[in-house]
Amino acid sequence: MEIHRWVRREILEMAGYQPGEQPADGRPLIKLNTNENPSGPPAAVIEAITAATGAALRLYPEPSSRPVREAAARAYGVEPDQVVVGNGSDDLLTMTLRLFVGPGEVVAAPDPTYTLYAPLTSLQGGSYRAVPWGERLATPVDALAATGAKLIFLTRPNAPTGHAVPLAEVAALCRAAPGVVLLDEAYVDFCHDHGLGLLADHPNLIITRSFSKSLALAGLRVGLAFMAPELAREYHKVRDSYNVNRLSQAGAVAALDNLPAFAPTIARIRTERDRLTQALRNRGFTITPSQANFLLAAIPPASGTGADWVRDLRQAGILVRHFGADPALADALRITIGTPEEMQALVTAVDAILANKSRLS
Ligand SMILES: Cc1ncc(COP(=O)(O)O)c(C=O)c1O
Repeated sequence: MEIHRWVRREILEMAGYQPGEQPADGRPLIKLNTNENPSGPPAAVIEAITAATGAALRLYPEPSSRPVREAAARAYGVEPDQVVVGNGSDDLLTMTLRLFVGPGEVVAAPDPTYTLYAPLTSLQGGSYRAVPWGERLATPVDALAATGAKLIFLTRPNAPTGHAVPLAEVAALCRAAPGVVLLDEAYVDFCHDHGLGLLADHPNLIITRSFSKSLALAGLRVGLAFMAPELAREYHKVRDSYNVNRLSQAGAVAALDNLPAFAPTIARIRTERDRLTQALRNRGFTITPSQANFLLAAIPPASGTGADWVRDLRQAGILVRHFGADPALADALRITIGTPEEMQALVTAVDAILANKSRLS
């Protein structure tokens, strides 16, 4: 087949996004590779989704997810016309590229960051500039602005490092940026503060949130974007007509109406994060202080390669994420914070791997 004659050149030339491994249901693996929440959602959310199944599924959902926008407005103190709902926050990132970036136009982000931004830019025919983080992981405000980007991504807390830049740097970036700034707050509920308060002063700021991490609903696929109403109107033109299905809208409303029910798992994840940071440091790992529900852990010196660790942990039944294609991250593992039992199993496996390495050396 001569597919190269049919498929767009940008697509043929791009590698495509590599999602983390999603093992088949029922495999007895401890899954610490895609930053899901180890607790399920509260009963009220499951009940709302269950109640939405039935004959009404023959009908299309509300096109703009109005019930979710209204629930988000109640929960976060904004207006419904400042909210756009996505089929996961990834859907909102796709819409953002479609809305702002034409062929050949520049998209920039600090590096390393979420690895989806670059392929989304390629899909749109844009040109992606990865700008290294500054000293002590500060936002490279001037270098980002100097790219002339139509769109700058800033992830806070960042993935995979877990660090959260000061909000003052976000504000400085909004002022300096020649185009719009998308602040990706997928992990912000694990952080000590958030950027919603910046929206009023920065009309070029868009903030995205995910239901997949703190709200334990990765399988439902829901995300929110907050912005000025004028921008939201334009987003509605580029979104798929019925982008969020009925079950997802029902579950999202219930989650937003029950936010306090998520507080205990979020608190427990923060506690486990701090405990695991200490436990891994004690074993020779270098850990970037994290404000998210994962750690970036550089392996102990002279303990093999990152790829060796991924293989050995997998043999012990534990999945972690490794960004081996990026030389700067080749010796680092990204580890999701799970239950206390899962964290204990991880530390036990790490001890066994280290003991084995010292026996062989
Ligand atoms: C920084 C960042 N943004 C967005 C997402 C996507 O989240 P969602 O499941 O809402 O599409 C992820 C998922 O891993 C992420 O790490």
